[in-house]
Amino acid sequence: MQNRGVIFMRRPEGPVTPDIFDIRDLPTPEAGPGDVVVRNIYLSCDPYMRGRFKADSKKSFQTGRVIPSRAVAQVVASNNPAFRPGDYVWGFMGWELYSLVPGGQGLRVVDPALGPLSHAITVRGMPGLTAQVGIMDIGKPSPGETCFVSAASGAVGQVAGQIARLQGCRVVGSAGSAQKIAHVTGALGFDAAFNYKTAPSIAAALEEHCPDGIDIYFDNVGGETLEAVIDRINPRARIAVCGQISGYDSASAEWAEPRNLEKIALAGAVKTRFSVYDHMDQYDAFVPRMAKWLQHGDVVYFEDIWEGIGNTPEAFIDMMKGGNLGKRLVRVAEDQG
Ligand SMILES: NC(=O)c1ccc[n+]([C@@H]2O[C@H](COP(=O)([O-])OP(=O)(O)OC[C@H]3O[C@@H](n4cnc5c(N)ncnc54)[C@H](OP(=O)(O)O)[C@@H]3O)[C@@H](O)[C@H]2O)c1
Repeated sequence: MQNRGVIFMRRPEGPVTPDIFDIRDLPTPEAGPGDVVVRNIYLSCDPYMRGRFKADSKKSFQTGRVIPSRAVAQVVASNNPAFRPGDYVWGFMGWELYSLVPGGQGLRVVDPALGPLSHAITVRGMPGLTAQVGIMDIGKPSPGETCFVSAASGAVGQVAGQIARLQGCRVVGSAGSAQKIAHVTGALGFDAAFNYKTAPSIAAALEEHCPDGIDIYFDNVGGETLEAVIDRINPRARIAVCGQISGYDSASAEWAEPRNLEKIALAGAVKTRFSVYDHMDQYDAFVPRMAKWLQHGDVVYFEDIWEGIGNTPEAFIDMMKGGNLGKRLVRVAEDQG
């Protein structure tokens, strides 16, 4: 039970580089009264973590500490009656092999009967619920409407598009490689998709692939794509601002607003920025619903899993550059679930 983890050494300026991390042996935690010690199995790499690397973010990560992250894990020691050794759980742990969860705070038991353990932090977890909230609560889809999703092959985007399709929308996606576009229109079943890196312009690609305009935009990227969408929205369109990854490497913690915002009001449209954490009351109902969709094949889900604690920084850096096809995770222990 030798612990090992990734320490956050210094705040990056611009794109993240490996030297902001240090990988080292760490003391293996012991459970005090009420505490739980877990062996992590899957660690999450998420774009929001880039914001926490900044000094001026409300929830900035502290330097000199293990990088906090969601994980799926197995309980190895527990002084808490809610958790038994051997239980599979998910919660906020860290990029390390073993984590102490004081008081079992935030831990939830994972039922292996629902499907793959990893799904607890992917499609049945935060990314899946984010997609559900953005499409259903903000997008309010109706059959026949056009829904456009950026970062369409990613952790959240792949689910957003599929939920919109289940509601009868025509779904169009964008992503950053030919392989991703083939995946989005093939395995994920989107009606159309384009590569925003090679299209003549995003505006031209939207004109070609969304000939009837855009009724719902699920925004994962912000920037140029958001501006081009605003130029193409239909009356009473809904823009669900999930994230704006194109701006995450900038020095500021605040996202830049598009320059054509006035067109939203002129169209009687709405643009709503949301956080999944304001909708956690839906989580308990969402998990079995998504499990059923997956079991029936109504939704398919792809994960892009790297191996080994030492590869976790590179797995994150690669994801931020678009190297992931599906949700990026790192497996740091055998999955026996
Ligand atoms: N609101 C919430 O509660 C909430 C919750 C979860 C996630 N989010 C947000 O949702 C978005 C997607 O997150 P995810 O976990 O699903 O990540 P993801 O899509 O699996 O991975 C990130 C992807 O972003 C794309 N990307 C990177 N730089 C880009 C740029 N400059 N312009 C356009 N695309 C770029 C890359 O794909 P390409 O190859 O397509 O470029 C990359 O694969 C992020 O903005 C994240 O912050 C929000």
